[in-house]
Amino acid sequence: MTTDLGPLASDFVGLETSYRTGRRPRRRHYLDSAATTLMMRTAQDVSLEFLKHHGNPHTTAHSSARSATAALHWARDVVRGFLGADDRYTALFMGAGSTACANRLAFSLARSRPGKPLVLVSSMEHHSNDLPHRRHSTVLRVPLATAGQAPGAVAMDRLEELLARHSGQVNYVAVTGASNVTGLVNPIHDIAELAHRHGALVVVDGAQMVAHMPVRLAQPDPRRDIDAFFFSGHKAYAPGSPGGLVVKTQLLAGCTPLELGGGIVRDVTESSYALDPDGEVREQAGTPNVTGTVTLAAALAALGQVGMEAIQAHEQRLLAHALERLAGVPGLEIYGPTDLAAAPRVGCISFNLRHMEHALVATALNDDFNVSVRDGCFCAHPYVRVLLKESLQELEIESLSALEIEHLAERRRGMVRASFGLYTTETDIDALVDGLAAIGRQEAHYRGRYDVDAHGARPRNAGAAGGAGAALFSPQAALEAALGRRRAAVGEPQP
Ligand code: ALA
Repeated sequence: MTTDLGPLASDFVGLETSYRTGRRPRRRHYLDSAATTLMMRTAQDVSLEFLKHHGNPHTTAHSSARSATAALHWARDVVRGFLGADDRYTALFMGAGSTACANRLAFSLARSRPGKPLVLVSSMEHHSNDLPHRRHSTVLRVPLATAGQAPGAVAMDRLEELLARHSGQVNYVAVTGASNVTGLVNPIHDIAELAHRHGALVVVDGAQMVAHMPVRLAQPDPRRDIDAFFFSGHKAYAPGSPGGLVVKTQLLAGCTPLELGGGIVRDVTESSYALDPDGEVREQAGTPNVTGTVTLAAALAALGQVGMEAIQAHEQRLLAHALERLAGVPGLEIYGPTDLAAAPRVGCISFNLRHMEHALVATALNDDFNVSVRDGCFCAHPYVRVLLKESLQELEIESLSALEIEHLAERRRGMVRASFGLYTTETDIDALVDGLAAIGRQEAHYRGRYDVDAHGARPRNAGAAGGAGAALFSPQAALEAALGRRRAAVGEPQP
């Protein structure tokens, strides 16, 4: 497949990583980008350049500190620009990913809008866009559409019903832009329009969206604007970066900061303190992760140069190829609708081989086929349960009662997921499909080789299983090698 991604498609650390399967090391097929993407080399280069000028942005006197401050400002502007957020928005960076941002929003919006005790959360959320809201507000669940304009996405009629029934009481609607389980995309601007009509805000988990499709938070019609959007650098080719939160600045005005410390105060005495009046400053206690923030912004800027439309089109071609080939694997169930025109997705597909445990399939894919996928519930337990039950119902096991279906779904308790990044190729997808077909054909062989329980699949005989798990990275060995190179460089004897 030709790509129009230019040099970026091969610009990642770890594309050549090989693990031993069978006799020889072979290149890994990395299909776990929804969990963590590989690092973009261009972003890493920018980060290393920045480190030559590393300093603390709370210092003002010296040139390196001023470089750090300027780099942070650059990063904020890049992130806002990349997400189509105009000057009504602020970009904040915090914690290790989306989770920190969701907790911050849940805490702050519950306090700044106390007359609105309810939060509407969709049934397809990752725990990070669910549990924080449960802690600070009363959560009502928005079900998913089974048919209609976007089957599998948030049911717009049910959302409207809930908003109308609780009009004025709903603080915000929390919804994922794209699911980390099925990749299904929600119509976030339609959701925003509905929410705003009833005095509610809209908060979007953009973790699976930001590096996969164009995002424009500010719309020509402001009723369709997104109020807050958060995402993680480790899912956008910038591991080690903080979570990013882009939020309408006016929403920060009434917020009490979640964390207190240096950098956010005008003055402190032994008995009192005065916070900085600027909401953006007040939300950033402590020395920020400048290097991670700059790396994240560099990754997004590089994506922006290729163009998110081109990146999305490339991913859609891969998805179509994957869905077509997976449909030919006997006994494979794919979760969620697979008609890409009716039910748009990002590059993320979850499935099971009927009769086989997800852990067994995922482990065999790794050990014998060098295909890296994730299995389990993907930190989205309620959604995975909904999908498993739906698929059991679709199989029309008519003799089963609702309770029996519940038990069966509970026993299965998970799926296998393949997810794509910019570097994913048809060869990676073909390796997945061929591996799945072979595993399905040799079920008895794999069952004989592994013990499977709720904690995963383990080889009965480690020597016989061999496989890609055998050659693992050793940080200690890497450290010794690095120290060895250092000693050699300065002419010191090796110990
Ligand atoms: N929650 C992340 C995922 O979907 C890690 O895999």
